[in-house]
Amino acid sequence: MVAETSLGVDDLVAPLFVREGIDSPVPISSLPGHFQHTVTSLCREAEHLADLGVPGVMVFGVPTTKDAYGSGASDPDGIVQVALSELRSSLGERLVIMSDLCLDEYTDHGHCGLLGPGGYVNNDATLLRYQEVAVAQADAGSDVVAPSGMMDGQVAAIRSALDGAGYPDVAILAYAAKYASALYGPFREAVDVTISGGGDRKGYQQDPRNRREALAEVALDISEGADMVMVKPALAYLDVIADVARRFQVPVAAYHVSGEYAMVKAAAERGWIDGAAVAAEQILAVKRAGASVILTYFAAELAAALGGQESIDRSLEPGHG
Ligand code: PBG
Repeated sequence: MVAETSLGVDDLVAPLFVREGIDSPVPISSLPGHFQHTVTSLCREAEHLADLGVPGVMVFGVPTTKDAYGSGASDPDGIVQVALSELRSSLGERLVIMSDLCLDEYTDHGHCGLLGPGGYVNNDATLLRYQEVAVAQADAGSDVVAPSGMMDGQVAAIRSALDGAGYPDVAILAYAAKYASALYGPFREAVDVTISGGGDRKGYQQDPRNRREALAEVALDISEGADMVMVKPALAYLDVIADVARRFQVPVAAYHVSGEYAMVKAAAERGWIDGAAVAAEQILAVKRAGASVILTYFAAELAAALGGQESIDRSLEPGHG
């Protein structure tokens, strides 16, 4: 009766991977229960999620070939575009279809942008590529594009490209405060990304030591036209989620990332924790901090535990589910 926070199925978004050139789904060992999908198995999984009441999916592509420009990201016949249009035709309006908008899955060097002289990411050249990717994803039927590359000016560039191509209604979920985190490890296996030369993303992602900088990033993205903003990862940045939710009026999303999921799964596998209860507690904490949209690899599991109806309280009880 007096509980302040409740988590519902409708708060959850499921990240999904689709891979080119396979004829059956490939399990991702570092993300137990998740697969690199074929287009067919992706649509089946999305239907299952919609049946459970999950309102949205975020689609990531794994192409067969990668190059310096990340050409596959904007190719109309590229895996993500094919998957988005199949999802649209098989699911209609049952789910909000979102697409991660980045180059790292498609570049041979594994960076989120184009490299300039000296091996540094060239911010402004990258923006032109993001514009092409945004329009390709909108052409394929995406409802929401989600730029995750942390280039300066990416939201404004994408908004003007979408408007110019006749997609004023395609929304932008900006990965606004994305930290250079060690928690993305399993994801990079999921999308077959290795950053060349043992590099990292510290040149464009945020420094975990900085909290106020996140507010500056979010303010910029909103002024450039972001419809929703995201904080990522989630649990190590609950203070940032709370700051953003308090300060800004747009919906706040948080991404409970691959490493956060994998840690729970691994400890549960060893019998050290009750995985279902810990998952429910963690995702509830993200909601309590102020996120109203939560991307999580637990989406299907939590939704099934919630039965589409119940609140999360029952699944917080040890041993439930
Ligand atoms: C970039 C992107 C990443 C994730 C989502 N979008 C990886 C990165 O920045 O290295 C990570 C998601 C996760 O770890 O679950 N396209």
